[in-house]
Amino acid sequence: PKRVTLRHLGAKYKRKEPISMVTAYDYPSAVHVDLSGVDILLVGDSVGMVVHGHETTLPVTLDDMLLHCRSVARGAQRPFLIGDLPFGSYERSPQQAIESATRLLKEGGMDAVKLEGGGPARVAAAKAVTEAGIAVMGHVGLTPQAISSLGGFRPQGRTAAEAIKVVQSARALEDAGCFAIVLECVPPAVSAAVTSAVSVPTIGIGAGPHCSGQVLVYHDLVGMMQHPHWVQVTPKFCKKYAAVGTVISQALVDFREEVANGEFPGPDHTPYTLPEDDKGEFA
Ligand code: KIV
Ligand code: NA
Repeated sequence: PKRVTLRHLGAKYKRKEPISMVTAYDYPSAVHVDLSGVDILLVGDSVGMVVHGHETTLPVTLDDMLLHCRSVARGAQRPFLIGDLPFGSYERSPQQAIESATRLLKEGGMDAVKLEGGGPARVAAAKAVTEAGIAVMGHVGLTPQAISSLGGFRPQGRTAAEAIKVVQSARALEDAGCFAIVLECVPPAVSAAVTSAVSVPTIGIGAGPHCSGQVLVYHDLVGMMQHPHWVQVTPKFCKKYAAVGTVISQALVDFREEVANGEFPGPDHTPYTLPEDDKGEFA
């Protein structure tokens, strides 16, 4: 199967065909995303929350990301692969951003990287990485790595001043060379404004229908998690397309019960019998 490239994505955008993007973090989820025909696979730093059980994305390291990126790259041959630059791996200087992005490509097998934020320093980082020959996706609106200064996972761009900031950030990221921009948790009117203000695809999450594409987190989309009661539930904007978590839980309960009552393993799952001739020796 042919790999999706920036040229394919650009052609879709020109034809006004919506672009689909999903996260994945390991070999099996990457294989599933590959088979689905989804255009872009994001190895998101949301891995820290949905796989590692952290409350935020802040603890995720570049080494964590590289481990997940390599596993995904082995499972996904077809989608365009993007790796998130994690918190602390690109803020210090454009040079640091280039070094971290380079590792996600060379060691992680990614096709491109994503970084969060649209202030002057982030725009400079995006420009430097792009000029180093690495495709960069921007990310504005709710940027979870900024939770410390945002004061929580809250929708963004809900005042005129904030909305203008979102549009300006997106334009600045486009000028810096970003090939696409994620819009997270902003009102539909703001997504519409950004989408018409830039000439690169916008990929929305909790941002309504007026984007060039949509992204969801794998575990949320498939309904993987039956969250323990102390964990924040699946975000409001996420549509659950399945209830995989229920299937997993039932399978585990069935196994436990069948072991307890001796039903498992039956003859069908007891393949390694002795050859007829040798049976006597163990009798
Ligand atoms: O880490 C992630 O999953 C993301 C998407 C929500 C865009 O950044
Ligand atoms: Na992310």
